[in-house]
Amino acid sequence: MKPGAGINARGWVKTRRDSKGIHFLQVNDGSCFQDLQVVVEDGVLPEEILARITTGACIKAAGDLIESPAAGQAVELRASDIILIGDADPAFYPLQKKGHSMEFLREIAHLRARSNTFGAVCRVRNALSDAIHRFFQDRGFQYIHTPLLTASDCEGAGAMFRVTTLPLNGPPPNDDSKGSDADSAEDFFGKPAYLTVSGQLEAECLALALGNVYTFGPTFRAENSNTPRHLAEFWMVEPEMAFCDLDDDMELAEEFLKFIIRYVRGRREDDLQFFNKRIDSTILANLDNVCEAPFGKITYTEAIEWLQKADRKWDYPPFWGADLQSEHERYLTEELFKKPIIVTDYPKEIKAFYMRLNDDGKTVRAMDVLVPRIGEIIGGSQREERFNELSSAMRLQGLDVESYSWYLDLRRYGSVPHAGFGLGLERMLMYLTGMKNIRDVIPFPRTPGSIEF
Ligand code: 4AD
Ligand code: MG
Repeated sequence: MKPGAGINARGWVKTRRDSKGIHFLQVNDGSCFQDLQVVVEDGVLPEEILARITTGACIKAAGDLIESPAAGQAVELRASDIILIGDADPAFYPLQKKGHSMEFLREIAHLRARSNTFGAVCRVRNALSDAIHRFFQDRGFQYIHTPLLTASDCEGAGAMFRVTTLPLNGPPPNDDSKGSDADSAEDFFGKPAYLTVSGQLEAECLALALGNVYTFGPTFRAENSNTPRHLAEFWMVEPEMAFCDLDDDMELAEEFLKFIIRYVRGRREDDLQFFNKRIDSTILANLDNVCEAPFGKITYTEAIEWLQKADRKWDYPPFWGADLQSEHERYLTEELFKKPIIVTDYPKEIKAFYMRLNDDGKTVRAMDVLVPRIGEIIGGSQREERFNELSSAMRLQGLDVESYSWYLDLRRYGSVPHAGFGLGLERMLMYLTGMKNIRDVIPFPRTPGSIEF
């Protein structure tokens, strides 16, 4: 918009300042970080209306866009008229000019998108989602939709939310003799149903017909982890590729992370500058470094050796066969490599049943991408494409092979090496913005004991 142009602007008043008969309103419509300064002189509006234009009010201002004489903005709107669309009683409106704590903003999640920080989070989240589609679409991947309601446990970890229409208390009506398993027959789907922990198994079915696919949607985990990195409902993007091994998988993951960082930087420089200034002054330099240097690569076995050699006291002393804890992951990426790393070939006992067994018979073709500040941001693997190996891995992990026979069919008919990974959208957002708690990068967080809004 050129200076001198007559325009209308609608938005919410962030702050108001009055000086010598002139009123300065900072107005934001959510489209970008910068507010529009609306300047109203005494006499333009009835006193009674002017008095009600306070922080939080929604207005429509008409006037000329002129070059701003003051620092802080290139242009401002000299208002010739303002319509007050919605009041916000200053005695009650909870968002005020002073900075609020993240904890307080969480309590008013229905209003926090109007704060500088959360508005910026939402725009970066949108740009990141756009980047994800752009990356895969440009490379010929087909966007598929995997179900949220499922009867199978993809990660085999049992951390699933049960979905039922049965009455809460006791067995179904007219039959009080049945136990809980038998109850499932009376349930909506005729067997136990859950919210999905991952779309991977269904994505594999479609990859073995369409080639390269990706699914991108909500996933649910009922693990009782009250940490700054875990949500009960989070978004995951999961590519799955036929004719693909672990090396191809790792290459794609690295290219993907670098692409989405660059893309979001190009789209939301304003918001990222804000995060760099107010949340964490190292993020922009770090993101640039990530895009330049190749990721480090290390096997799980090497990682354990490094951890055992490290001169420090661990809460969980590392040993071969134990899962890597957050303290281990952060040491490897933050201190040993000082950049993102990919850890491969974990012991089969600590990974899901579907990962391809290595020739050593002990480790599987798994990969986790670890980044500074966050730890694990991507989990993936080459899948076990051999029927016998897969069915015995399932049996070993105590799965009911019968109910996964559809999944085994992929290995019966036209099986092919294939691989994929899952990126947690909220972990990526924490990485991009420097936000320290995962509850502050999703509009309405669901965590143990908390499901407001
Ligand atoms: O490592 P995970 O459990 O891998 C899978 O679910 C595979 N089926 C993915 C695949 O190969 N298609 O989860 C993948 C990523 C993690 O690296 C992490 O970024 C994120 O999902 N994640 C969570 N994010 C927030 N809250 C939680 N509770 C999360 N659990 C996993
Ligand atoms: Mg994982």
